Amino acid sequence: MRILAEHSIDKKERSNIITMAGVAKAAKAKNPEVINATIGMLFDEDEKFYTFRSVKAADSELTNEQKYPYTNTIGIKPYCDAVLNWVFDKHLAYFKEHEYLSIITTPGGSGAISNAFSNYLNAGENVLLPNYMWTNYIQVAYENYLGYETYNMFNEEGTFDLADLKETFLKMQAKQKRILFVINDPCQNPTGYSLTNEEWLGLINIINEVATKDHPFILFYDMAYIDYDKNGRDYSRTNIGNFKLLNENVLTILAFSGSKTLGLYGLRIGAMIGLNKKPETIEDFTNACQFSARTKYSMATTYGMYLIAKVLGEEKYLASFKEELGEVTNFIKKRSNTFIEAAEAVGLKTLPFKCGFFVTVACPNDDLVYDYLVAHGAHVIPLGGAIRVAICSISEANCAKLPKLIKEAIDAVNKR
Ligand SMILES: Cc1ncc(COP(=O)(O)O)c(C=O)c1O
Repeated sequence: MRILAEHSIDKKERSNIITMAGVAKAAKAKNPEVINATIGMLFDEDEKFYTFRSVKAADSELTNEQKYPYTNTIGIKPYCDAVLNWVFDKHLAYFKEHEYLSIITTPGGSGAISNAFSNYLNAGENVLLPNYMWTNYIQVAYENYLGYETYNMFNEEGTFDLADLKETFLKMQAKQKRILFVINDPCQNPTGYSLTNEEWLGLINIINEVATKDHPFILFYDMAYIDYDKNGRDYSRTNIGNFKLLNENVLTILAFSGSKTLGLYGLRIGAMIGLNKKPETIEDFTNACQFSARTKYSMATTYGMYLIAKVLGEEKYLASFKEELGEVTNFIKKRSNTFIEAAEAVGLKTLPFKCGFFVTVACPNDDLVYDYLVAHGAHVIPLGGAIRVAICSISEANCAKLPKLIKEAIDAVNKR
């Protein structure tokens, strides 16, 4: 008899990103010519890990008392205030006055995903995920005794498939009373798609049509890459401002990632913010998610909280951080333009892309294409029917080179 509990027998890390990134890193350490486009972390044009200057400066001012003691599960007030201001921007005053919100510090966006999944579905129910996705969502669902279904992201025009989404919501409601819908926007991982303001309004309308007193709807808004939106801060925050249009049967949970916004991947810091029109819904959110936080990981890092509180909460750092974020968004935009142009030049088809850390190429034999690429010194992530290229971590020169190699790999595999 296996000693593992039954539910754990099937547990094996299948979200291959971290493993494959390790393989790629080792290959690049041996040969600097290797292209490592595996992981969603920022690297500069020399393909060296990127640290924000403002984050480094704020870090150097932190005392030991701001790094190492326990704090509390919800998070220190300066951190919570700074994150709320950062996330909602000029819309915060409205939500504070007219709705209810609550923030809980988490170890990255990952902690927020886990707490939301464990508290808003019953065991055996399904979470609704996009058909192209960060595959760790599936594992978090399994860990929390949940299954998953997917929605179709794109219609034939290559825009967000709202028509299919409404049907999916209704079909799902025929099977379970509640919907936990995950959307990662803008700069979706892995496609780089971003909904327009109009698409968001369409989505909000559909959610309002299906969310009723007996059919609660949880909008899980994974905003991990929001600060790299090429349309800028006002545009992305307009979408958040429009959450005020959601009806009272919709609980919105926003997942903030300190990893992606500030490049603090290893510090494990983020937050989940619950937003709803009724105080009791938010009281429930706070109680249940605080409990989950305390039992799963106790609290996020004190170091991360104080560091982000400084960068986003003190004007001298905030102004330079915003400026630097603009610079970084521009260099990523240059890389993606270069990649897309080079892909078009060799007839390589990418999935609908707008901006962000990743570009994805649809290809049926992604495992074989991956093997071919590795043999030719390039590492990407096979996603099952597609490969993901992390342009955030390779130079513009390699963005110009890689599409031709991927096209060659696909053609070689197709010929076999
Ligand atoms: C779409 C998406 N959501 C959430 C995360 C979680 O990141 P973290 O827990 O480091 O904030 C990632 C990380 O790659 C991601 O790509």
